[in-house]
Amino acid sequence: MKEMISLQDITKFQSRSEEFFPLEWYKRMLNNAPVLYHNETDTWNVFRYDDVKKVLSNHEIFSSVGSRTTIGVGANNKEGAIPEKINLTEVDPPKHQKSRSLLSAAFTPRSLKSWEPRIQQIATQLVDEMQEETIIDIVEALTGLFPTMVMADLIGVPSKDSLMYKKWVDVLFQPYTKDKQQEIDIKKQAAAIEYFQYLYPLVVQKRSNPADDIISDLLKVEVDGERFTDDEIVRTTMLLLGAGIETTGHMLSSIFYSLLYDDKNLYEELRNDVELVPKAVEEMLRYRFHIGKRERFVKKDISIWDVELKKGDVVIAWMSAANMDETMFENPFEMNIHRKNNKKHLSFGNGPHFCLGAPLARLELNIVLTTFLQKVSRIEPIESFDLENNLADSAPGQSLIHLPLKIYK
Ligand code: HEM
Repeated sequence: MKEMISLQDITKFQSRSEEFFPLEWYKRMLNNAPVLYHNETDTWNVFRYDDVKKVLSNHEIFSSVGSRTTIGVGANNKEGAIPEKINLTEVDPPKHQKSRSLLSAAFTPRSLKSWEPRIQQIATQLVDEMQEETIIDIVEALTGLFPTMVMADLIGVPSKDSLMYKKWVDVLFQPYTKDKQQEIDIKKQAAAIEYFQYLYPLVVQKRSNPADDIISDLLKVEVDGERFTDDEIVRTTMLLLGAGIETTGHMLSSIFYSLLYDDKNLYEELRNDVELVPKAVEEMLRYRFHIGKRERFVKKDISIWDVELKKGDVVIAWMSAANMDETMFENPFEMNIHRKNNKKHLSFGNGPHFCLGAPLARLELNIVLTTFLQKVSRIEPIESFDLENNLADSAPGQSLIHLPLKIYK
């Protein structure tokens, strides 16, 4: 297992809320310590837009191969391990291209187009089930559920099993904490075994009866004579769950938080013109997505940013801080869905590892938000809501576990 780097040791945030919305800290770092060596964790940290982009994209200098990590996900057993063939997040080009091509087969624009009605149907069903003029926990009713149901459906899991599926996903992506590492690992390993045993027969069955889903696409794909085995397909779906569910769910919860608390007029503005939804989604990805940071490893000694980096040094690229760099975004600490270049945010990364699921994530966020706006005329925050007690550690950072609100249809 990789050695965990605790970001909390670097930020020294005093509360969960501060970590959920760390703008003051970003501002301080961007102004006073844009390239920071942190002794306790032995890491370099970069915050400026251009520097973050360089770390993510220049694989000749900054490698994805290394023994430490800021994100602990998956399970530490054979069933939970990502197959070598598609371990694309932890390899560099040229090896990376091949793994990425194998996986890209399931993410073509054509698949995206054919998935749209299915994603729409899940969004409609979940919003229709919400009762008006009652207090709804939007995380439970929508934002936590929607991305899991979508991924389960696209992977090819029967919809009757999607809740059971969600339970495994929740355990598999529970974050490791320093004091409970072993206890959590045992739970994750058990979930990985259950998941594996559930999905394997489904994959075997789809070999003879292919359908329109990711498992069937992965069964067909061949790159340079390489194909997936059934076992590898099961474990590949685990990578997709890890990459695609928490991120999208976190973003969706944060969008609702933003609509309730950051700009109370925005809901009305979007309802009056749902064509603005894609712009709002991009601005939220820039302004409200604070779990974005990735580590890289220095490939050779180099002099850069007026410092000397040594081979093997860890550099953490703080994407969500880069999204607040005023050299790139005018008045960056203001949420403005009309800003011209909000799509330039780095929340989906940059360079060879740019998020493979970005088109899917964008599609999901746009569909679900538009559907909600069309069916719900007004949302109201709950006065007694206490942010601090409704956040919890997730693999990449603080995420909302409850967000109560009142809806009027
Ligand atoms: C990679 C963010 C949703 C699949 C990445 C990376 C980021 C990211 C920052 C780059 C990591 C790096 O540079 O090392 C996000 C965000 C999402 C999201 C913010 C939602 C709001 C999804 C979805 C899927 C997905 C829905 C698909 C199911 C992947 C994969 C990679 C990746 C497979 C690895 C690409 C590679 O290493 O070549 N994502 N992601 N992501 N993402 Fe996403």
